[in-house]
Amino acid sequence: MLVGAAIASAALLLLPFMIRLDGKPHAEWLQFVGRFHPLLIHIPIGLLVLVPVLELAGYYRHTLHEAAKFVLLLAVPFCFLTSVLGYMLAYGAGDTGTTVTRHMWGAIALSVLVCWSAVFRLQSSADRLPRFYAPLLGSALLALFWTAHQGGSLTHGSDYLTRYMPLPLKRFFGHAAIVPVADSFYARRIHPILDARCVGCHGESKTQGGLHLDSYEALMRGGKDGVVIVPGNPEKSMLIVRVSLPSTDKRFMPAEGRPPLKPEEIAVLKAWIRQGASSSDIAVSGAPALANTSDDAPPEPVGDYSKLMGEIEQMRYTQGAKLVPVSNNPGDGLVLETVDVAANFGDAQLAQLANFASYIVEADLDRTGVTDASFDTLSRFTRLRALHLAGTAVTGAGLAKLAPLSELRYLNLSETRVTSSALQPLKTMPNLKHIYLFNTPAQPATKTAEIHTPDGTQHE
Ligand code: HEC
Repeated sequence: MLVGAAIASAALLLLPFMIRLDGKPHAEWLQFVGRFHPLLIHIPIGLLVLVPVLELAGYYRHTLHEAAKFVLLLAVPFCFLTSVLGYMLAYGAGDTGTTVTRHMWGAIALSVLVCWSAVFRLQSSADRLPRFYAPLLGSALLALFWTAHQGGSLTHGSDYLTRYMPLPLKRFFGHAAIVPVADSFYARRIHPILDARCVGCHGESKTQGGLHLDSYEALMRGGKDGVVIVPGNPEKSMLIVRVSLPSTDKRFMPAEGRPPLKPEEIAVLKAWIRQGASSSDIAVSGAPALANTSDDAPPEPVGDYSKLMGEIEQMRYTQGAKLVPVSNNPGDGLVLETVDVAANFGDAQLAQLANFASYIVEADLDRTGVTDASFDTLSRFTRLRALHLAGTAVTGAGLAKLAPLSELRYLNLSETRVTSSALQPLKTMPNLKHIYLFNTPAQPATKTAEIHTPDGTQHE
């Protein structure tokens, strides 16, 4: 039993080091199974809370000591199972962040403590509880409450307990009202910028870098590397740092060759942060009005694809490729994701998507089986802004067929056999500003205009 407990504890403790939560989503079945975690979690909680009750009651009715032993033993496999399911959920969904990490370590500590409480308890004689037992079980229960609170913050938001707390109590616990006021500067000027330019990758459907930018709270919570807003100090705020880098820096945001924020937008963000990044201030001094410059106007909205949602879902089951909405606003279009099925995705599968072509604004075909034959299909993806073809068999013959893609800004052809002559027809495409050619015959030996390499250096 001791050996078994030692192995199980060690395995659980090592899990986060062996399979790291890397912030990237993984196979969907992991999430499918993992989603039983919030359901199953109630079983070990129920069992564990019962243990001290039964132990105490055992002083009055002896048989209850036996019951406590049994319930504690039963809790051990449930703790381990629930922890593993939780891990699958986080790993599958690409979740990271301080709350996720705390919740994870809390659960691991809890499982190990419960496991060893059970070991000591089983070895004890009928009516003499071992000396370690009470502190061990007590720590397990403390770990349980703390872990459960972290888990609650994950599912319900960290203000779940405090949101409807009476104001005096809130002040006492240091939670001033943090719900943004509807006509606040944040709501009118800050949220729209982040919503339009960042939430596609930092929102509900996709959470890059562990960072959500879709609510005030999430913005202030920050990402995997900590806070991104330092109230009063825009220069120290990572969000400002990232959007102010040269657009060729690989840490530049918005990522993947999306157009930079306008200088006025950055100025608005800075002014707001300088004045304290509040959720309720109505006005902020020094914030410029947004000019409506037309040269880099936001993209024209695509048509409403809501009616096709049924077909989109079905396609996901038949061929595994996903069409993910960029945002809640259908006009922002769909992103084609093939990362989970890249090995089975080729020209024929792409051709089947022709129905949705006019709604797709970004297509990730990296490392799929598509070939030059797909340029025919792609010529119908007229709303495409970003196209990823890295690591595919394309040679570039037929790149000219992309000419109708007048909104295309980003094209990744790294690790393909594309030659520089095959690229000639792209020169006429007005918006195509970022072409990646790392590890191709076309990779410029001498520095030429408009070419990026994946490390983000732009050669002018
Ligand atoms: C095309 C997707 C994409 C868009 C759009 C995007 N980001 Fe990101 N962002 C990422 C990825 C991927 C990461 C993680 C890798 C990294 O840190 O560079 C990231 C990380 C970050 C981080 C660091 C988070 C941390 O804690 O490490 C910040 C800050 C950030 N983004 C801000 C923004 C802002 C502000 C915008 C909008 C102006 C934006 N991003 C738009 C993809 C995107």
